[in-house]
Amino acid sequence: MGCCHYFVATEGGADGFTVEMPRVTFGRGVLNEVGERARSRGIGRAALFTDPYLADSEHLARARKALSDAGVDFGVYSEVRIEPTDGSVLAAADFLKEGNFDGIVSVGGGSVIDTAKGAMVYAQYPADFPTYFAPPVGGGQPVPGPVKPHIACPTSCGTGSEATGLAVIRFESLNAKFVLASCYLLPLEAIIDPACTDTLAPMVVASTGLDLLSHAIECYTARAYTRWVKVEKPGARAMLQGANPWSDLHAREALRIAGQYLERAVVDASDREARDNLSWAATLAGMAFGNSGTHLPHALSYGVSHLIRDFRPKDYPGEGVFVPHGVSVIVNSPSVFRFTAPAAPERHLEAAQCLGADVRDATPEDAGEVVAERIIGLMQATGMPNGIGGVGLTRDDAAALAESVVRQRRAIGNSPRDTSQQDIEKIFEHAVTYW
Ligand SMILES: [Fe+2]
Repeated sequence: MGCCHYFVATEGGADGFTVEMPRVTFGRGVLNEVGERARSRGIGRAALFTDPYLADSEHLARARKALSDAGVDFGVYSEVRIEPTDGSVLAAADFLKEGNFDGIVSVGGGSVIDTAKGAMVYAQYPADFPTYFAPPVGGGQPVPGPVKPHIACPTSCGTGSEATGLAVIRFESLNAKFVLASCYLLPLEAIIDPACTDTLAPMVVASTGLDLLSHAIECYTARAYTRWVKVEKPGARAMLQGANPWSDLHAREALRIAGQYLERAVVDASDREARDNLSWAATLAGMAFGNSGTHLPHALSYGVSHLIRDFRPKDYPGEGVFVPHGVSVIVNSPSVFRFTAPAAPERHLEAAQCLGADVRDATPEDAGEVVAERIIGLMQATGMPNGIGGVGLTRDDAAALAESVVRQRRAIGNSPRDTSQQDIEKIFEHAVTYW
């Protein structure tokens, strides 16, 4: 089960990789450390970001107390939109510009942390919104420089945003999500307190848990960094650089934990061991994909969230028609991995094995089926919709879905197998229903 042969040198390919990481603090109760952490980073006045559902929560109360106890002044911004948009990020940037803050503390899920990242960029380096996004939708300009210190405190167990320099933002005019990526978006500190996940509803844990699971498989099966073009200057090296030994390390452990604890964490909210472990796995997967990038399941998820018509998930009160990110990812994953496995069968088998699948008699030709069946088993055990049909899409939507997805060039390029628009259409057709 060696892995290093995956990183064989290629003509003109990269021969180095870079690891970007925040300082990480993990454990029950560590949210109470956020005040001291902020003060030690020179934050005298913090913007405290959260969302409307967490504004009156115990978690935010703990953060407020910790900041006050440490003598850190703060202003609360609780207008974060779940699934942030260009408009909501710019509104948050206005709050930052007007508040004379010297740092941000974000307490919430991926939407809160991503809004904080985006708002800091546009508060400090105002520009037309697409400027810092990748082509073909964006201008391809790099974020010009550092932003203020950011301490990210996740309250869910899946996005991994606390460990990445990425923010997922919906462009309102296109009704589609795109990724803002820069090493300058990386939080300075990540404070992960699994006690914040104790009150999460089962569907929320299932969605975020399957998101982290897919992050980890995607990292492990991504195109090897040695197959991306070598850059002449270190500053030109992409943060999302393909699979590498660092992302492998974290992806494997995240998969091992998810295979062991995901179902328990969903079905029993009192199972602290399971939720603690899942929180750790989410951060590990974030450390992985923040340095390697995800690939097709995430690219395809943006098509699903773009075309969703009438899906209303359980356990997300007040959200209306909406598909949780993890759901939009995992309904595609089995079909994707059946497609990508022939390009890297050993990697798909290893991922399945880490997840607890029995691979003793599996041949390389079985790899896609083995990993897909393991994921489908976990989807069934955690109450996930049955494919894209389970969220109201049909085979007739496949062409429109594929057309929406081809704009996600970087993620598609990170697939281990060259992938055309026609391939994506076929993957959607095979993702309509699994059981
Ligand atoms: Fe994700």
